[in-house]
Amino acid sequence: MRMYDIILKKRNGEVLSKEEINHFIDGYTKGSVPDYQAAALLMAIYFQKMDKEETAYLTEAMMNSGEVIDLSNIEGIKVDKHSTGGVGDKTTIALGPIVAACGVPVAKFSGRGLGHTGGTIDKLESIPGFSVDMTKEEFVNNVNNVKLAVGGQTANLAPADKKLYALRDVTTTVDNISLIAGSIMSKKLASGADAIVLDVKTGSGAFMQDIDDSFELAKEMVDIGINMGRNTVAVVTDMDQPLGYTIGNSLEVKEAIELLQGKGPKDLEELCITLGSYMLLLAQQVSSVDEGRVKIKEAIYSGKALETLKRFIVNQGGDVAYIENVDLLPKAKEVYPLKVTEDGYIHKIKADIVGMSALILGAGRDTKDSVIDLSVGIVLNKKVGDYVKKGEVLAYIHSNNIDRRNNAIEKLKTAYDIEKTKPSTKPLVFGIVTEKEIKRL
Ligand code: URA
Repeated sequence: MRMYDIILKKRNGEVLSKEEINHFIDGYTKGSVPDYQAAALLMAIYFQKMDKEETAYLTEAMMNSGEVIDLSNIEGIKVDKHSTGGVGDKTTIALGPIVAACGVPVAKFSGRGLGHTGGTIDKLESIPGFSVDMTKEEFVNNVNNVKLAVGGQTANLAPADKKLYALRDVTTTVDNISLIAGSIMSKKLASGADAIVLDVKTGSGAFMQDIDDSFELAKEMVDIGINMGRNTVAVVTDMDQPLGYTIGNSLEVKEAIELLQGKGPKDLEELCITLGSYMLLLAQQVSSVDEGRVKIKEAIYSGKALETLKRFIVNQGGDVAYIENVDLLPKAKEVYPLKVTEDGYIHKIKADIVGMSALILGAGRDTKDSVIDLSVGIVLNKKVGDYVKKGEVLAYIHSNNIDRRNNAIEKLKTAYDIEKTKPSTKPLVFGIVTEKEIKRL
């Protein structure tokens, strides 16, 4: 079998066989297929697309390119949650403890931030001592004891995806439904959870900006999960503005803790309740989503989820004092208010631009090796739909460097659309995709 023929076949719009896809993934992982041939095939896939069967073969091949984790030593139905990536998305930090407090084991492997989107592990490392370095036994014991552990995506988890994702990033082939579905689901399936709840983001801060594409991606991923024997549900949610009010590592941890104290922002809370209720349903802890919603709220407002967060942080070496007193978390030297120059309603806060502004401040990585500044970021003071008067503060910029701050401000200003008329309200949740139906709300 020759890569040349596989590229030619896809370039001409033909369907690739399982053997051809395996040959590509196997060869690329081992290094016998060079980057330039992989890049050519990615571009051919980008334009000619893959059908459902090809996408399933691609996912399976990437899943099997490394270790497939066995979590059978953990009691109960393990449910994982995965977001396709967004700005200000600190959901895992709050939702993990909430669902664990409801008795569902959450064994999660999270990533670091890259580009304009943040990563859960970077955020959690704002808490001194916290680490995702655990042996497999420690990871399993932590889930059995606290019902929650967060591990890092080791080099051996779907290594084909790791290499391919980096290549897609530099060859403008990220936003293809089959390639995203294969990338995410190969990692989720290799991580060993029994059931998966997917948060498929749509809008300016998401990889899929178009709503119809987002539903198609959701359906593709649900079908892959179901066909691989994992009960999978996807919730399509808004990422047209940042989630919550904070963007930046320690600022996001603080907001997630506030949610667990019962004083979190409404959109983040609603997202946690929705995703959490489906996690409880898939874990067979409740018999309906409505029952799930009640249980999730109870876990938040009783303080049980906050207690679970503390135990989880301590178990992974973190200093609990930083949860008990969020003012101890890393703080930037300077907080600068960005003021509005005209009266009007906020129509847009483009999430990708806010994410890029936070990146300029140092909250994210330009390259994989950049060192991030955990203390910097942006705190929104207003959100879409709010009326603002000239001179009011739109957002606070937390920075440690004047040049970076000035550059971030110039960028951040372009995120806003302010108009005289009131904008129509948009839902946070656009729909639910299950094995049986695509329900648009
Ligand atoms: N997240 C992933 O892990 N892969 C993608 O392709 C897109 C988002």
